[in-house]
Amino acid sequence: MSKLRVGVIGLGVGEKHAEAIARIPECELVAVCDRNPTILAAIAGKFPDVAARECDTEILDDPSIDLVCIASYDDCHFSQTLRALERGKHVFVEKPFVLHEEEAKRVREELRRRPDLRLSSNLILRRSPRFLDLRQRILSGQFGTLYHLEADYNYGRLEKITEGWRGKLPFYSAVHGGGVHVADLLMWLANDRILEVSAVGNALASQGSGFGNFDNVVAVLRFASGAVGKLGVNFGCRLPHFHTLALYGTKATFLNGRDCAWLYTSADPHVPPLILDTAYPGVHKGALIVSFVAAIQGRGEAEVSEEDVFASLSVCFAIERSAHSGLPVKVEYV
Ligand SMILES: NC(=O)c1ccc[n+]([C@@H]2O[C@H](COP(=O)([O-])OP(=O)(O)OC[C@H]3O[C@@H](n4cnc5c(N)ncnc54)[C@H](O)[C@@H]3O)[C@@H](O)[C@H]2O)c1
Repeated sequence: MSKLRVGVIGLGVGEKHAEAIARIPECELVAVCDRNPTILAAIAGKFPDVAARECDTEILDDPSIDLVCIASYDDCHFSQTLRALERGKHVFVEKPFVLHEEEAKRVREELRRRPDLRLSSNLILRRSPRFLDLRQRILSGQFGTLYHLEADYNYGRLEKITEGWRGKLPFYSAVHGGGVHVADLLMWLANDRILEVSAVGNALASQGSGFGNFDNVVAVLRFASGAVGKLGVNFGCRLPHFHTLALYGTKATFLNGRDCAWLYTSADPHVPPLILDTAYPGVHKGALIVSFVAAIQGRGEAEVSEEDVFASLSVCFAIERSAHSGLPVKVEYV
């Protein structure tokens, strides 16, 4: 089988994509791109024999490239993804893979036109050993019926929207950018779909910064199974980056902590919980690329399927709409 020739655009977290690609024997990292020449030089220097490009079209339009990893700013993802697909390339794109529902529909259309092409996105919490272990426990029936699920994306990096590029984009959504991770996590863990959301939001933490959207959003969720839950996105918290997770099943309760998690199987205060000390987050940001490459080459399934990519962002579109309208919103899966 010939090697997949890969280009990476955007070299912040994209450096991790490049590292992952460089380690996959079935891939050849052929080009890295960043429009910031200083960053480009610094990162390209770590990958000898790899072409350094300042302009994304040099990768997107290169007919010898099979797969593009896109880790540019959020507002570039749609046009870069579409252009790559139109030129016959597979795409691994950072989250949020697009900003607006119409864009998601356009990408979907293009993928239907090109069933030979694959797309995935970096919903990386799925690779956390803590959550992989938890999912196995759920699948093995340890939780009984899950009836209540809560997750928060506690970003703890307010400056990313008050000072960085995120807050300077014409549209930036904390829900799309951060909430998508926990929307995916909840649906993946529970093997369920969120049907309806009811959200509120505020921007007190970033008040006066010029940031034009909510920095804090909380949504009540209704799942297809009948379970209910809550999803929070909190960019302003005075708390190191953390994913709160609480799952309540008829047989067990899971609470995530930083150094360990707790699995309770009894309401008796004298029965201690099981301590789960699996690594959290404990994951390399390029880890999902391995299974995606295998899927492209017909050697298995991508851990994050195309369906999953569209589903998690569809939930976020609904949460964003609900928070702004003040009304419950049914999730329309793109
Ligand atoms: N999955 C994750 O856990 C995770 C973590 C961090 C960031 N991200 C996502 O990755 C993307 C990048 O975020 P970041 O934190 O790495 O930002 P960053 O600012 O650290 O790096 C982005 C780099 O991309 C370059 N760039 C931006 N647009 C470009 C374009 N059109 N062409 C060429 N270069 C371009 C910038 O010059 C910059 O060097 C965002 O979409 C973000 O949401 C995902």
